Amino acid sequence: MKKYFTTPIYYVNDVPHIGHAYTTIITDTLARFSRLKGNETYFMTGTDEHGQKIEQAAKLRGKTPKEYADDISGKFRSLWDEFEISYDHFIRTTDEEHKLTAQNAFAKMYEKGDIYKGEYEGFYCVSCETFFTQTQLLDDNCCPDCGRKTSVVKEESYFFRLSKYENALLKWYEENENCIVPKGKKNEVVSFVKGGLKDLSITRTSFDWGIKLPENLNDPKHVMYVWLDALINYLSTLGYSRDNAKMDFWSDTTHLVGKDILRFHAVYWPAFLMSLELPLPKCVAAHGWWTRNGEKMSKSKGNVVNPKEVADAYGLENFRYFLLREVPFGQDGDFSQKALIERINSELGNGLGNLLSRIIGMSMKYSDFEISSKNVMKFYKTELNEADEYLKNAINNLENIAPNRYLEELWRVITLANTAIAKYEPWTLIKEGKTDEANALVGLCANLLAKVALLLSPAMPKTCDKIAAALGFEISPKNYERLVKNAELIDFKATKTEPLITRIESELMPNPQPITPQKDEEKSDIINIDDFAKIVIKVGEVLECERVEGSDKLLKFKIDLGENEPRQILSGIAKFYDPATLVGKQVCVLANLKERVMMKKYVSQGMILSANDGSLVLLGTHAKVKNGAVVG
Ligand code: ME8
Ligand code: MG
Repeated sequence: MKKYFTTPIYYVNDVPHIGHAYTTIITDTLARFSRLKGNETYFMTGTDEHGQKIEQAAKLRGKTPKEYADDISGKFRSLWDEFEISYDHFIRTTDEEHKLTAQNAFAKMYEKGDIYKGEYEGFYCVSCETFFTQTQLLDDNCCPDCGRKTSVVKEESYFFRLSKYENALLKWYEENENCIVPKGKKNEVVSFVKGGLKDLSITRTSFDWGIKLPENLNDPKHVMYVWLDALINYLSTLGYSRDNAKMDFWSDTTHLVGKDILRFHAVYWPAFLMSLELPLPKCVAAHGWWTRNGEKMSKSKGNVVNPKEVADAYGLENFRYFLLREVPFGQDGDFSQKALIERINSELGNGLGNLLSRIIGMSMKYSDFEISSKNVMKFYKTELNEADEYLKNAINNLENIAPNRYLEELWRVITLANTAIAKYEPWTLIKEGKTDEANALVGLCANLLAKVALLLSPAMPKTCDKIAAALGFEISPKNYERLVKNAELIDFKATKTEPLITRIESELMPNPQPITPQKDEEKSDIINIDDFAKIVIKVGEVLECERVEGSDKLLKFKIDLGENEPRQILSGIAKFYDPATLVGKQVCVLANLKERVMMKKYVSQGMILSANDGSLVLLGTHAKVKNGAVVG
């Protein structure tokens, strides 16, 4: 069987944090489980690099969008590599192959009559890259999803006939119970669609950083709406419309997403797929939102959880366990070191680690590390049957994307084994001469732990390899089939090992300090280097300069800052300079200043720096430098 698992492709406007790690680790666990069951499995992740948001973020840092995307995309990729995420493909939407697939898909939907040209008039949230109508907005035209101010957009646009697919979508939800999980989230999607679907604007003209439309449309001023571009990545990865090399994975697809982007995946995406006449995903699974110590994470609060910091402090696999176990899939969750430490010490240490060391210890004392399963059925049939139930439940839960319940069931088995040791007291059995019973108990526990380790290995691969090494078997699809699927019992040859889990005594990471507003006496004009680093000053050459009609102060410049296009900048120095004398001169420009509209019609994209001693003198350099050279 072929199975396909995907994470969202993350925007490159932000570095990876716990939320991204959560989605990626769940998907990794599902992909590893699928491989363990012997399925041919393809797992992709990647980065979403086009759109207005990224263009703006790059500009603010004085970089081209591509330079900026290269940098952050690399950060995601190296974090996943460090975390040993078992992805088969890391896609970037700036990959040439992806652009081609996106254009082919656009062309196909267009030919089918599902795309038409019109004009979009409404509101746009750049942060969410989402269109809204006035009635959807909060007060003061703020975005209903993130609360930020939206901008008014009125531009020519191509539209996708989303409305045409309303009934087909409702039918899909109805006929496929688990196409969207959890159920509560599915209900929200269904009622959204029942509320009626409007056609979707799928191109933009007011900026460039996006994929161009297919050439035969001959409409170069449009770029694709970033969400259309982004969703198609799931097909580009498989070679769709190019060599189609991996398209046979498509028919069994599971998309993991956060609840913030469920609508795109559960409404727009299946509609696009229907238009492309492709099968719909088998499952779109949406999880909840992580907070820290009960608070929303945000850069301005300085409380964003950095997954690498947690993994370095507490161990990657402990962190994986915590993420998967802490919250019921679909619900919001909270990260606190206290909760993490509690789970490491109790469930992992006292539960799992302890069981392993007891088995090793008993086998050393009673049977020189030889563990036999010979009499397990005879003495401990009830325990075996009970454990079998839990193991089956664990499998079902993971297959139905309830990782927390999958782990809960596995821990029932661990508790069962630990309880059996306390209850039957093998040391007493030995004293009483009941050696067979004592050895069978060790055999029971070793077999239960081996089954648990096999099933737990997708979540904690390294830890389970250690367990397997200590018991003398291997985590492999073959052993999964024997011990878990066919419920076989095997013999083991144990070896002495280090404790599996190290107890954690106190918090290992500094907690974020609440950022309190500065008191007046602490306020000063002194800035630190980080404050200065926010400022991008560049040297640029004046290409054009003219007076602005209706103003005796302003000059309008075209300045080459070494970017794709020159910038237009307005500056209030008309009284001090004759425009003609400035052409060809190099000036210093504050390059990451927010754009503003002056005199109601001129966009000014920066500020020209000057020294002021009553008259104004422009700043330049002592020798000619390359346009775009950074001042600092
Ligand atoms: O939306 N808690 O990218 P994105 C839980 N590029 N999960 C979180 C989280 C949090 N606090 N913060 C982020 C995009 N996530 C688009 C996707 S897919 C075709 C395009 C996770 O960088 C969660 O999976 O904003 C969420 O859906 C995703 O990151 C959003 O990542
Ligand atoms: Mg987001």
